[in-house]
Amino acid sequence: MRNNPTILVFDSGLGGLTVLREIVRTRPDAREIYVADDAYFPYGQHSEDEIIARVVPLIGDLIATHKPDLAVIACNTASTLVLSHLRAAYDVPFVGTVPAIKPACARSKTRRVSVLGTLGTVKREYTQALIRDFARDCEVKLVGSARLAALTEAALNGETISDGDILAEIAPCFVDGASRTDTVVLACTHYPLLLDRLVRLAPWPVEWIDPAPAIARRVADLLGPQRPDSSSHGDTRLIFTSGRQHPAAEALVHSFSQPVTAVA
Ligand code: DGL
Repeated sequence: MRNNPTILVFDSGLGGLTVLREIVRTRPDAREIYVADDAYFPYGQHSEDEIIARVVPLIGDLIATHKPDLAVIACNTASTLVLSHLRAAYDVPFVGTVPAIKPACARSKTRRVSVLGTLGTVKREYTQALIRDFARDCEVKLVGSARLAALTEAALNGETISDGDILAEIAPCFVDGASRTDTVVLACTHYPLLLDRLVRLAPWPVEWIDPAPAIARRVADLLGPQRPDSSSHGDTRLIFTSGRQHPAAEALVHSFSQPVTAVA
């Protein structure tokens, strides 16, 4: 491994920046190549076969070009489908992002949990298996949102997104009754970017589970201790598959205290 490890962080768009933020905090020495496959966004609207056919060769190209020490698939919609294919095809350690059903069910006091993800993620067999294996005595409601990832991107692009539009997407998570929902899994990496608004718009307070800190800890474990001969500062390169420049994303990454280079 080189002195400063190189980490490929991949998402369909800007959502993976919520994972990148935690990785930068946990491993400030790392150099990240952040790739947003915005030319194919949103993944939640594509079929399983289309996503596999798109992502597996694309990651292969990125590995060949950037030679990362580790790759993070910072997208639930892709991870729940392609991780096994990637591990079979490429000799690089992969860390995925999958719905945090296990910790959510361990924490819920009312035993009523909702999982908010894309239409693709909530349909996956992978997600069903997590519920079978880890829900224990919890009632788990899967809530597929057709629009929330795109609304998040629009908000980051400076568009005004109404409270009503966001509330319509999250409202089905809130099940009332004798025991009401107390925990919502953010099963799409875009959603933590709207966390302030989700908290404000929630009909009652719940715990929102963002898996990013746990993913960053897993990355740090796999990389091993920081090498004494590494420089203490890493940097991030931002690449959009559409070839666009994205000043708002660059500013956001800069706010993680990371020098950022946009690559066209
Ligand atoms: N950020 C992605 C996820 O975690 C999904 C957004 C999309 O539909 O492309 O699922």
